[in-house]
Amino acid sequence: MKVMICGKGGSGKSTVTVLLAKALAKNGKTPLVVDADESNLCLHRLLGADLPANLLDDMGGRAGVKARRQNPLMAGSPELFAADTRVSEIPARCLAEADGVKLLLTGKIQAYGEGCACMIGSISRSVVTHLREAEDEVVLVDAEAGLEHFGRRIDAGCDLVLHVVDPTHESVAMAERVREMADGGRRSFACVLNKMDAVTKDLVLSRLDGYPVIAAIPLSDSVFQAALGGESLTVNLPEVDDICRYLEDGDRSG
Ligand SMILES: Nc1ncnc2c1ncn2[C@@H]1O[C@H](COP(=O)(O)OP(=O)(O)OP(=O)(O)O)[C@@H](O)[C@H]1O
Ligand SMILES: [Mg+2]
Repeated sequence: MKVMICGKGGSGKSTVTVLLAKALAKNGKTPLVVDADESNLCLHRLLGADLPANLLDDMGGRAGVKARRQNPLMAGSPELFAADTRVSEIPARCLAEADGVKLLLTGKIQAYGEGCACMIGSISRSVVTHLREAEDEVVLVDAEAGLEHFGRRIDAGCDLVLHVVDPTHESVAMAERVREMADGGRRSFACVLNKMDAVTKDLVLSRLDGYPVIAAIPLSDSVFQAALGGESLTVNLPEVDDICRYLEDGDRSG
């Protein structure tokens, strides 16, 4: 199964991705986190993993990718990540692992004026489209903030879109747009509330009447402090198990 985790900036996409990946690993699954955010730098720290080589760098950077695209041998296959690639076939230097969770980075903006993020987006789309996960593997794609990944159809290879909703008007309003886009691509869609307390949870739930809300993760000092210190997220939140159950039950009719 492939799951895209999306939402507005700062809503908690990376936090939810990491907490979910760790919980799935504890439940005997083999999660692969795909860091498809071209800007943020520290997802590996939340996982407690080393930083692997990213795919863009591994392909020789922008020049390497351009040369690859111009190579006549690639002419019939403009994609950058071969069809039906297994997780076991990804070069070891491009994977890190901690607590049973694997991490793959598609690329990062690194230099002033180097160009836009389109190339990284196309690598992300290739990965999500062509990776063929095994039965026990769950691919969790940590998207960049906002909706651009939908514009690029990076989510096209995913089975499920999880929209992370923090207690803000913007986040709630974005739910409608994300649901439409997920449905337009015929993908399942669900909301995960994040940074909730008793009051905000009820308020946000009332605003999301009719939406499939599968979990409400509380505002947690432990999460916040670990992230601030650049440390691995080791806290166990029972609300994250609600997401695991949803994935395992296969009840994604919403
Ligand atoms: N449940 C939570 N409890 C406390 N703090 C949280 C929680 N979820 C996220 N945070 C904090 O909120 C901030 C943003 O979280 P995070 O980086 O996961 O968001 P994001 O949506 O991935 O952001 P970006 O759009 O930059 O990728 C971080 O400081 C993180 O520690
Ligand atoms: Mg993030």
